[in-house]
Amino acid sequence: MAVAFTGTPEQEKQLLAVIGEMKETKGALMPILQKAQEIYGYLPIEVQKLIADKTDTPIEKIYGVVTFYSQFSLYPKGKFQVSICLGTACYVKGAGDIYDELKKQLKIDGGGCTEDGKYSLDACRCIGACGLAPVMMVNDDVYGRLTTKEIKGILDKYS
Ligand code: FES
Repeated sequence: MAVAFTGTPEQEKQLLAVIGEMKETKGALMPILQKAQEIYGYLPIEVQKLIADKTDTPIEKIYGVVTFYSQFSLYPKGKFQVSICLGTACYVKGAGDIYDELKKQLKIDGGGCTEDGKYSLDACRCIGACGLAPVMMVNDDVYGRLTTKEIKGILDKYS
């Protein structure tokens, strides 16, 4: 479920100032998007539209860039950022099932955030703890040798 966009006039002012400064610079789209993400924490469609409008760039192009680069997020991050490793070692040990269980428990898709802003869910690449596969992180806490049965208990710790 998407979280309602709650940008403030102050954030918009900051973004417009950034665009005003960089607009005429060639190749400014990436730095503008990076700044926008810093200001808002993510790049919802409302922010993309504003950038498209103010830089005379087609929204399709902006959306294409935002969805292509993993540094950009279309969704806000939750207070607890859940990240499941889908690297090879974790994958062969069943990380796909853990990922499905997380989606089921949190009722969101990968890249999404729960409506209350508490949890966001992402898949990541190898975090260098392959010996503990399958591995997931909740903020800085690492959980290894996971089974689907453990997921609810782990999430409950953060509720
Ligand atoms: S593949 Fe998951 S920690 Fe290395």
